Amino acid sequence: MQKVAIVGSGYVGLVTGACFAHLGNKVICVDNDLKKIRMLRKGKVPIYEPGLDKMIAAAARKKKISFTANLAEAIRECDIIFICVNTPPKDDGGADLSYVENVSRQIAKSLKRYCLIVEKSTVPVQTGERVFRTIRDHVGNVEFDVASNPEFLREGSAIEDFLNPDRVVIGVSSAKAEKLLKQLYAPLKSKMVVTDIKSAEIIKHASNSFLATKISFINAVARVCDAVGADVEKVAAGMGLDPRIGPSFLKAGIGFGGFCFPKDLAAFYHMSQKLGVPFELLQEVLNINEAQKAYFVKKIENVLWNLRGKRIALLGLAFKGNTDDMRFAPSIDIIHALQKEGVELHAYDPEAMDRAREVLKGVVFAKNAYEACRGADAVALITDWKAFQSLNWSKIRKLVRQPVVFDGRNFLEPEVLQGLGFHYHGIGRNV
Ligand code: UGA
Repeated sequence: MQKVAIVGSGYVGLVTGACFAHLGNKVICVDNDLKKIRMLRKGKVPIYEPGLDKMIAAAARKKKISFTANLAEAIRECDIIFICVNTPPKDDGGADLSYVENVSRQIAKSLKRYCLIVEKSTVPVQTGERVFRTIRDHVGNVEFDVASNPEFLREGSAIEDFLNPDRVVIGVSSAKAEKLLKQLYAPLKSKMVVTDIKSAEIIKHASNSFLATKISFINAVARVCDAVGADVEKVAAGMGLDPRIGPSFLKAGIGFGGFCFPKDLAAFYHMSQKLGVPFELLQEVLNINEAQKAYFVKKIENVLWNLRGKRIALLGLAFKGNTDDMRFAPSIDIIHALQKEGVELHAYDPEAMDRAREVLKGVVFAKNAYEACRGADAVALITDWKAFQSLNWSKIRKLVRQPVVFDGRNFLEPEVLQGLGFHYHGIGRNV
């Protein structure tokens, strides 16, 4: 059992804290947002992540997890401190590391005995060095280590990913730090990748960038498929059987979103430029991703002809299924483009409605998928929520004004929909 402080009770911090507590450690989650801390103390979890509320409640009952706004107090009690604060994108694409710096300085001031400080926030390479220097310059005569331990959690399956990881990456600069982290992760019995700190930092950015590259690649292939009447689903299946390529992240659609891929790609590119080794491929991956949203809107326009005054039902708003996260959701750009053309939009998402209301104006939020579809000239599937696959499409057929479906995720059964009289339009799908 180790005593672990988690600084930053956002998405990564809460999942990490809950899972370490679940594994038997004593965890203190810290956040400077008092409102959030009060909520968490009452057992309310501020984000939607399947299983997280139950896991936190169980750990709280066993007194394995607690929440505080007092960073100094948490540091006094813990041996390992995880930095899980936000690293939002700046206008130039670089990562804003001011929260990381701030926390590092605060940690230094409260450090009274040896502690291992671990960066878990996604950060550009060389941040570990900066964190080390910042602490060194503000700490008294205390020994400490800095390590990097990037996360590979997917929203919507973060707990499962944490407890059954493909690998745990730890970037360390001392045997003591390595031992502490190996002990902490020992119960997971996972493959451990031990590197220096900079390599661990790059593993994170390179992994996300590579996955995003796969998505943009297949999206570009999908456009070629559309142009000649081939089927990208079959192309992806054929490619994916080659173990050197693999089948995952070859799902064509409206492009990737969320708070990880777009910002990490931009940050990695920005860093490569700063280092004098511009990684232009990444910029092209981002370009393809932007163009994919415009491509979807164009597809809608090609079929519906004039968009002004048309009504479209949007199924899903979140950046992907199983999350309420709207950050960098493709839906936002698609909605803006359709609104610019004078389309009336009625939308429904099983979980993201509250967050969507904060960022979207002029959209009618329907109380369910059927209400969104009532009177629509077309239905556009935006998010791959499983529930949309089991909708009663014959009921929807009667509700819509025109039987047209745009499947932005190649997620629905074209034959079933066509059998019901819908005109089906996927992405690069020849049906
Ligand atoms: C991603 C990575 O998958 C995690 O490993 C990583 O830890 C995380 O970022 C992070 O850096 O924190 P996440 O953003 O939750 O996780 O979502 P993904 O499931 O990877 O999907 C990202 C986006 O790509 C979504 O918009 C999704 O719809 C899209 N996508 C994914 C596709 O369009 N096609 C695919 O084949 C796969």
